[in-house]
Amino acid sequence: MSEKKATLTIDGIEGAVELPVYSGSIGPDVVDVGGLTSKGLFTYDPGFVSTAACESEITYIDGGKGVLLHRGYPIDQLAAHSDYLETCYLLLYGELPDAEQKERFVSIVHNHTMVHEQIRTFFNGFRRDAHPMAIMCGVVGALSAFYHDSLDIADEHHRQVAAFRLIAKMPTLAAMSFKFSIGQPFMYPDNNLNYAENFLHMMFGTPCEASNVSPVLAKAMDRIFLLHADHEQNASTSTVRLAGSSGANPFACIAAGIAALWGPSHGGANEAVLNMLEEIGDVSRIDEYVARAKDKDDPFRLMGFGHRVYKNFDPRAKVMKESADEVLAELGLEDDPLLAIAKRLEEIALEDEYFIEKKLYPNVDFYSGIILKAIGIPTSMFTVIFAVGRTVGWIAHWNEMISGSYRIGRPRQLYTGHEQRDFVPLEQRG
Ligand code: SDX
Repeated sequence: MSEKKATLTIDGIEGAVELPVYSGSIGPDVVDVGGLTSKGLFTYDPGFVSTAACESEITYIDGGKGVLLHRGYPIDQLAAHSDYLETCYLLLYGELPDAEQKERFVSIVHNHTMVHEQIRTFFNGFRRDAHPMAIMCGVVGALSAFYHDSLDIADEHHRQVAAFRLIAKMPTLAAMSFKFSIGQPFMYPDNNLNYAENFLHMMFGTPCEASNVSPVLAKAMDRIFLLHADHEQNASTSTVRLAGSSGANPFACIAAGIAALWGPSHGGANEAVLNMLEEIGDVSRIDEYVARAKDKDDPFRLMGFGHRVYKNFDPRAKVMKESADEVLAELGLEDDPLLAIAKRLEEIALEDEYFIEKKLYPNVDFYSGIILKAIGIPTSMFTVIFAVGRTVGWIAHWNEMISGSYRIGRPRQLYTGHEQRDFVPLEQRG
């Protein structure tokens, strides 16, 4: 780490506090504030707006320039030339695989796609109208009860087995969540199909006829998984890291990440975007909704817009928008009314002073729902798709933490409650 220093002078504290400053390979320097507690001080940063919670080599984001790198490779190059499982290999191991490494990785994933038959019974405990994300929180957490042979998180091989099981089984469990909600039989994986084809086979196939998965839709599905694979220390990834820092079971940590992703401010936004576009209903009503999004007294926000880090275009949104045009054109849906509303809404918002001043641009969730709807995925499954894609990112960060030196995460607080006071017996209250 570098020898740079930050000097802090605080009223009432004798002398200045010297804090080490570290530089990464790219991006902002960080001030190591660990020594502040010895001065009786904490830092205060609700929402972790300017807090680097860890050191990582996996993903880099430059919010001002709209740059997203996975192990140094730009997301638009990976979306154009790679595929989801190859990107999984890159995120997990740090380098793109050669042909033999890729073939072996894909083969191992393919041979872990089935789930234990007992898992099927978990679904029967849910109401048919349960939200698929509620089901995924439950059944992924339940995997922690099934794999006692890969529980030593200090063992690299055990961590690898957990990674393969999660990447391979998430599509199977996701499709089962959908099938359960529509009362159709679960479909077993077909390992002759590639990752995205297999998912669509399990989603839309039935035991009554051979699956006929469209290569166009499968390619679009694979790209959606790839674009959601990882995104630095976002809320759900930070949740997985915090859960993992206590030494918890990796399947339980991923279930915690799924729960955090579900919120409409995070991964739940893709479902909220589609619902918003359908509520707007016509380009003539866009101005009314943009006005509501700007109204401080109206809780309505333009879903799919804004980002904690990106203050420029989310590079994933650009790729997603191109994919939406390609997929809808290939399906003869280029006149999709929701796409028309989305494009007009983007144009209006990007010309509006409020959005320009607050640097609110479309994010990854703005166009993804339009592609998913064209593929035939129901809106309630959109965040589940996000969770399937993001599983590799959660696991890569969990593995990076557990394989290094780490401590249990335990933030402090600014306490503003009562000072100490004596107990009041019941008869003396009121
Ligand atoms: C994801 O972190 C990640 O990397 C996440 C993610 C990933 O891959 O993991 O990229 C995935 O979660 C993308 C974001 C999806 N969420 C949405 O699209 C929901 C709509 N967006 C917002 O809720 C909001 O923009 C957030 C949650 C994304 C960001 O919230 P911040 O960083 O806390 O910003 P903020 O809420 O403080 O907003 C700053 C200002 C506020 O106005 P002021 O109080 O300063 O006057 O911008 C306004 C907000 O009111 N604002 C919006 C807005 N987003 C922010 N106003 C209208 N519409 C919006 N969408």
